[in-house]
Amino acid sequence: MKRHIKKLIWFGIPVLIAVFVWWRWDNWFSNEPEPLYVSSPMPDRILLSWSGDPFNSRDVTWQGDTLAKEGSLQISGGSNPADTILYRSSPKIIRTSGGAASYFRVALTKLLPGQAYRYRVANGPNWSDWFTFKVDKPTNGAYSFIYIGDVQDSVNGVSGELFHRAYANQPDAAFMMFIGDMIERPHDAYWGVWFKSGGTIFQTLPIIASPGNHEYYKGLIQTLDNRWMAHFPFPQNGPPNFLGRTCYWDYQNTRYISIDSNGIQTIPSALEHRNWLKSVLESTHQRWIVVMMHHPLYSTSRGRDYFYFRWLFKSLFDKYNVDLVLQGHDHAYGRLAHIENSEDNQKQGPVYVVTHASPKLYDVGFSKKMDMLATNTQMYQLLDVTNDSIRCRTYTYDGTFFDGFTIIKNGSGDKSVKEYAPLNSDKFLQPTKSFIRKSSEKELEKYKNDMQEWEKSKLK
Ligand SMILES: [Fe+2]
Repeated sequence: MKRHIKKLIWFGIPVLIAVFVWWRWDNWFSNEPEPLYVSSPMPDRILLSWSGDPFNSRDVTWQGDTLAKEGSLQISGGSNPADTILYRSSPKIIRTSGGAASYFRVALTKLLPGQAYRYRVANGPNWSDWFTFKVDKPTNGAYSFIYIGDVQDSVNGVSGELFHRAYANQPDAAFMMFIGDMIERPHDAYWGVWFKSGGTIFQTLPIIASPGNHEYYKGLIQTLDNRWMAHFPFPQNGPPNFLGRTCYWDYQNTRYISIDSNGIQTIPSALEHRNWLKSVLESTHQRWIVVMMHHPLYSTSRGRDYFYFRWLFKSLFDKYNVDLVLQGHDHAYGRLAHIENSEDNQKQGPVYVVTHASPKLYDVGFSKKMDMLATNTQMYQLLDVTNDSIRCRTYTYDGTFFDGFTIIKNGSGDKSVKEYAPLNSDKFLQPTKSFIRKSSEKELEKYKNDMQEWEKSKLK
C-alpha cells in the first residue's frame, strides 16, 4: 500500500505540475503579437524629465519615423529670451515585431534656476508646436508633486481626464510620478494611449517613473521593452545591470529611489539591488527618503503577497529610516503606517501606499495590517513636502477627497503619522463586478465577513 502511495506521489506530482504549467503557460510566457504600426513623420510622444541637477538641467525625448536622419531641439528663454539655441540629436532606431521608430534625446544643461523656457523639437524637417517649462529653484524644502499608480488604460481618454484633474488640483507640482504599468502591453498602440492621455502635461512637467511588469515582455526571463529606456532617460546611477531602470534623484530635501522591482528575477539581481540600495541609503543626508517601486511590500489585493520583497528590502527601509514607500501593481488602494521595526521594535518604519489609476479594478484582501483600503475607483495622489512634514492626499476619479495622512518629523528625526479618512470606506470596499461574476455565494459571503471584520478592527 505504502509503495502504491509513493508511486502515486512520484508520478502524480510531476503530472499535476505539468498540467498547471500548461494551463498557465499563456499567462506566464506568451506575448500577444504586436499589431503593425507606422510611426509618425511628425515629432510625437515628446516627454520632459530630468536626469541631472534639477535646478539647471532637463531632458527631452521624442519619437518619429525612421526616415529622418536627425532630430533637432530649439530652446529660448532664460536670462536672454531673444536667444535661441539649437541642439541636434542622432536617431536611435528601435524595431519591434510591429514596426520601427526613431527615438531622440537632448540633455539640456546650464539652464537657470527659476527661469521659464520655450522649446520645440523636430523629426527631420518637421517641427512640433512650442512648449514651455520652468526650471525649479531651491526652496526652503517646500514643494509638491503628483503620484499616479498603474494606468493600464485601454479605454482611450479615461486616464487623460484623471491626469489633467490631478494637475489642475496641484498646478504648482514640481513633477508627476508614475509607478509602472502605465501601459497595458509593450505595444506601440498602448504607448500611444499613455502619451495621448498625458497631453501637454508631459511636455511641461517633468515625469519620473518606475517600470512595472506590463512594460516587460513575458518569458522565462522577462525583458523590459526597449522603448522604456528611449522614453525615460533617467539617471545612470543604479546597479550596473540596471542602469537607468533602477536609479535615484535628489530633489530639494528628498532622495527619491526608484527600484525596477519586476527586473529582480534572479538571486544575483536581488543581491545587486540590496547592496546598491544599502549604499544609496547610507550615503544620503537628505531630510526625507522616498522609495518608488511597482510591486508592493504589503499587498492590498485579494490572494497576493510579495513576501520576497519584504525579505529583500524591509530591514533596509527600517534601518535607514525610509519615510515613504510609493507602490502600485494591485489596482486597489491601501495604506499602512506604524509598522514595527523588526530590529529595534520601534514604530518608526515607513508609510507604505499602494494605489492605481486604472479602469481595471481588483478586489481588496482585508489584511488587518492595512490602515486604509479601497477599490471600485480610480485614484490620484497629491503630495506636499516641507522640512517638517509630508502630506499625502488621495482623490477619487471624480475629485472626491478619499484619504490622507501627514508624516511629521521633528528636529531629532522622530516621526509620527496623522491620518484623515473622511468617508465611510464601506462605499469603496464592496466586491468588484468581476468578483461578483466569478464567485460563488459562499465566497461572496466570506468576502463580506472579511470586510466587516476588517472594518471592526479599524474601529478599535
Ligand atoms: Fe503590475
